[in-house]
Amino acid sequence: LAELHINNRFDTLEAQRRAKLVASAVGFPSRACSELAIVASELSSNILKYGKCGRMAFVEVKEGEGIGISIRAYDAGPPFRDLGSALLDGCDDRGPIDADDLSRRGGLGAGLGAVIRLTHSFRVEQDRPGKWVIATRYLGRPLPPFPPSRR
Ligand SMILES: Nc1ncnc2c1ncn2[C@@H]1O[C@H](COP(=O)(O)OP(=O)(O)OP(=O)(O)O)[C@@H](O)[C@H]1O
Ligand SMILES: [Mg+2]
Repeated sequence: LAELHINNRFDTLEAQRRAKLVASAVGFPSRACSELAIVASELSSNILKYGKCGRMAFVEVKEGEGIGISIRAYDAGPPFRDLGSALLDGCDDRGPIDADDLSRRGGLGAGLGAVIRLTHSFRVEQDRPGKWVIATRYLGRPLPPFPPSRR
């Protein structure tokens, strides 16, 4: 499947559709296909918010790690200032989001948290210009429990 250009809200819906399509072709059960559509939704909305536009690829992977799907999102926007912070719920890439800003900022800062909970591997590859955000999920491998066990 060719790369999908992400320029507007409609493209994010197409990204969800494609994630489901490819995930189901790879053999994921329907629950996982829906979860991978959420991953596509979050990564595509971040393209619009932080990169203005970009593109995505949905690729079957067959590697030492196993069979699965990689959802790749490219945008030419600025790099993550602090990726560790960006992955935390309620934080942007500088730190905790001020509660007073929540209503006007549009977003809880929980999109990438969802992405890492619903996939097995997450990485950012710098490109020039821009970067690729890549999330991969493998078939037949459970996700870590969430919320984490307290014991
Ligand atoms: N493509 C990107 N380029 C640059 N920075 C990004 C990108 N995607 C996310 N970020 C940074 O990481 C932070 C966390 O992203 P995340 O998707 O978790 O939250 P959000 O987009 O702020 O809100 P939500 O996804 O809950 O609507 C963002 O606030 C932003 O600072
Ligand atoms: Mg987001």
